Formats: sequence, structure tokens, C-alpha cells
Amino acid sequence: MLTGKRILLIVSGGIAAFKSLELIRRLRERGASVRCVLTEAGAKFVTPLSLQALSEDRVYSDMFSLTDESEMGHIQLSRDADLLVMAPATADLLARMAAGLADDLAATVLLATDKPVLVAPAMNVRMWTHAATVANVETLRRRGVHFVGPNDGAMACNEFGPGRMSEPAEILSAIESVLVPREQPLAGKRAVVTSGPTREAIDPVRYISNHSSGKQGHAIASALAALGAQVTLVSGPVALGDPPGLRTVRVDSADQMLAACLAAGRIDIAVCAAAVADWKAARPTAAKLKKKAGAAPPTLELALNPDILATLAKPGPQRPALVVGFAAETENLVANAIDKRRRKGCDWIVANDVSPASGTFGGERNTVHLISAAGVESWPTLSKDDVAMRLAGRVALHFSQPTKAEAAE
Ligand code: C5P
Repeated sequence: MLTGKRILLIVSGGIAAFKSLELIRRLRERGASVRCVLTEAGAKFVTPLSLQALSEDRVYSDMFSLTDESEMGHIQLSRDADLLVMAPATADLLARMAAGLADDLAATVLLATDKPVLVAPAMNVRMWTHAATVANVETLRRRGVHFVGPNDGAMACNEFGPGRMSEPAEILSAIESVLVPREQPLAGKRAVVTSGPTREAIDPVRYISNHSSGKQGHAIASALAALGAQVTLVSGPVALGDPPGLRTVRVDSADQMLAACLAAGRIDIAVCAAAVADWKAARPTAAKLKKKAGAAPPTLELALNPDILATLAKPGPQRPALVVGFAAETENLVANAIDKRRRKGCDWIVANDVSPASGTFGGERNTVHLISAAGVESWPTLSKDDVAMRLAGRVALHFSQPTKAEAAE
């Protein structure tokens, strides 16, 4: 699978560094060549000699070594590969990469490269969940850096939670999915994905909205695009960047979101992942509402927003072949979602638990059930990216072989 591919493996300092030795062995078994950059901290966990023996190449670690620079300058080192893999990637190296620092060979190579980068983080759970690391990871993802893991589990520091580096087999399959061009089973299909919250103006400065981050919807749009679909992402106000490889239309209100969906023209797939506000202010004012001393607080009259999902799912010649809705519930998740599928007239409902304890809103992970005419499928807890990829895979499968129950509906 990886014959002839050149991997530059950056090993930074973490107890998981020993797993990189196994990763090198597996990469070489698949025909890839591996060249290693070892950070100073990394060298406390694995020796240059073991990396050299397994990669059968010299190990680079010193930015100012005359021999290194004369044999292979750091710019060439950073570009003379098909893929850069950081395994393990420490919080420190991720921070330096996000900040664009070039204070050692690993950071310099990461700054100078024009090749894809895959990161396998490994750190203590508190370091992984720290706001600084979360922000750095977000920045790097926005720049197109690929991530694999970390996994949940017991850690060397006797704590439990996300932070364990992915296993070599998982890193290997992430490498393959970055390097080996995927099949494009959705080529020729047009999709609209709604994502994020909506913002309903009360006056020019105040609005009604919700906590949706848009992470799940954006991930679905990217996953459909990765399988070849031509995607329009209609996004409410979110802190995320526009994903590469698709068209993003940014909107505020539900009315604008519906208009943008309809303006996308004839589509085959609609995925409504946005958390659309059910109500808007009935009469938003053109001027800011003023607080008057002694006066009673104003009453806010609400009006119903259009139901975008139900509108797109309405039978007729314009109806997309597959309409997928989301059900965010805090109780009776599956029963409510089954009912919602009927009421909205959509084909599938992705039901997810958004009770505060689930950490779904704004979090990285999601536990969902896929509800279709064929029944209820409960998926394990997955990252939002993995939920998106699995859903996109199911969409592709649907177009190649709809289930009997669906065909009969
Ligand atoms: O009715 P409820 O908000 O629970 O339904 C959730 C599903 O309906 C989601 O797919 C959401 O994107 C969609 N929806 C919509 N327009 C609305 C309300 C919900 O598209 N006004």
C-alpha cells in the first residue's frame, strides 16, 4: 500500500516514543521509507541508535550540525518526504508548531514543510484538555494538519482519560488514509450541509442563539467532500474556519439559512446538522431597545422560524434523494428521534445526547444513533470527525445499495 512513500517521522519526548519503533517497522514492511528527526527530549526515551537501526537511515537531531546541513539541509529534509508524522507529539511541540516557532530542528522542519502533516498526540490528560492545548489543536486543524488520537485509557502518570498515543496500527491506517487517494464514491453528487447555531436579531445588538459549535456539521461537510461530493456548507456564526475543498456560505438567521439552502439548487443530499433557533423575535427593532428608568422590562414576542429540514424533506420533484436530520435530545433520545423522523419527513435521523453531562456541545466526541426506515443503529462513542466519516460512508453506501426497508418506503 505504501510502496515508495517517504515518511519523515518526528519523535518528540514522551513515554509513548517506544511505540514509534514499532511504527517504523510496520511502515517499512509496507514498503515506505522512514527518516527520523529526534528532539532532545525524545532522545531521553528512545536512542538515536534504535531509530537508525530500524529506519536504516541516519537520524537527524541537530539544527546546527555542519555534517547534517551539508548532507541534507533542513529545508530539503522538510520537503523531501511525502508526509511528516509527529509520533509522539508532545503538548510542547504542538504549541511551538501552532505558534510557528523554529527553535529546534523538529519545529523548523514543521515550519518549513509544504507537505501534509499527521500528528499523534501523547500527553497527560490535563495537558490535553488544557485550554491552551485545545486552542493549539484547533489552530492546527484549521490549517489542515491531520490528527490521529489520542485515545482514552490509563496513563503512565496514573491518571485516566484522553492522552494516550494511538497504537501503531491506528497511526498506520491514518497515514494510509492521508497518503493513498481514497475512492470517491460520491463524485457527481451535490450536497448541502447546515451547521452551527443561528442568530436571531432582537435589535441591532442583541440576539437569540445557542451553544452549537458547528464542529459536527463542518466535519460532515468535509467528510462528504472527501468522498467526492460537491458540498455547499451553510454555516451559522461559528468560530471555525471555512473547511477546504468545499463552498461555505455564512449566514446569521434561520431565514437566511433556508434561503441559502434553497439557492444551492438541485441537490442529492441534504444534511441538516445546524441547531436552528425554533423562534425568532416577531418584530426585531431597527434601533437598540433602550432601558428606561422605572419602566417595566419589555416583553419579547416570538415568531416561529421556518423548519429547514422539514422544508427540504417535503415530497416533490426538488426533494433531495437523501435527507438527513439531527435530533439533539436530553431525554428519551431514541423514541423522540424515531418520532421526529416521521414528523419531519426525512430519511435518516442522527440522534445525539446533548445533556450537559454528555459533553457533546462544543466537545470533540459524540455518541449517536442512526435512525432510518431499517431501524436503529447505535454507534460507539467516536470523535466528531469519525462520526462524520462513518456517516459519509453510510451515505455512499446508500447511493450504491439502498436497504430493502428504505427502497420500500
Ligand atoms: O425540531 P428539532 O429542532 O428538534 O429538529 C432537529 C433537526 O431539525 C435538526 O436536523 C435541525 O438541523 C433541523 N431543524 C431545521 N430547522 C429548524 C429546526 C430544526 O432544519 N427550524
